[in-house]
Amino acid sequence: MSLDLRRCQKSSKSLRLTAEDKRKLAGLDALCFPYDEPYAVIGKWWWIIEDMDWNPVAYAGLSPCPETPGYMFLCRSGTLPSHRRQGLAQRLTEARLEFARSLKKDVITYVQRDNIASANNLIKAGLRIVKPVYRYGGDDGIYFGSSW
Ligand SMILES: CC(C)(COP(=O)(O)OP(=O)(O)OC[C@H]1O[C@@H](n2cnc3c(N)ncnc32)[C@H](O)[C@@H]1OP(=O)(O)O)[C@@H](O)C(=O)NCCC(=O)NCCS
Repeated sequence: MSLDLRRCQKSSKSLRLTAEDKRKLAGLDALCFPYDEPYAVIGKWWWIIEDMDWNPVAYAGLSPCPETPGYMFLCRSGTLPSHRRQGLAQRLTEARLEFARSLKKDVITYVQRDNIASANNLIKAGLRIVKPVYRYGGDDGIYFGSSW
């Protein structure tokens, strides 16, 4: 089955999201992070993977990073349980890295210590453990970054 990846914002100059994409992101977020508060999607870049009927199955975001000039922040990534271990998060990570690189930015992010799936995903994409200048996720996370 073909699963297509697209960046929600067509232009690299505007962070504006359509109402339909906001709805899809909120729906995915609720299913992938059932115990979290709804995530604030405004002011970030977003990518969505959809099936042939345009049903969203995975998503990920990239946020500007004013605290760490020269970097962007890999934020929130989720794949519906039914679609996990098919390489979707990997595709989303690669798309975000490619976009950040095109803007001549490095990326930084963190994972909770027990989130093995997420840490392995970042390692597979070539990121390395770093000591952050700014601790976005507090002291408990493991920080990963790129250095192109
Ligand atoms: C983490 C998450 C996004 C991974 O999504 P996914 O689409 O299943 O990941 P992929 O299939 O692209 O996996 C890519 C790599 O990540 C690692 N990985 C993914 N799931 C894993 C798991 N359950 N255990 C260990 N490693 C895992 C592997 O290295 C994998 O490569 P491999 O299959 O060749 O071994 C998904 O499990 C999820 O949505 N979890 C809940 C939300 C969350 O924790 N998000 C991340 C923090 S923001």
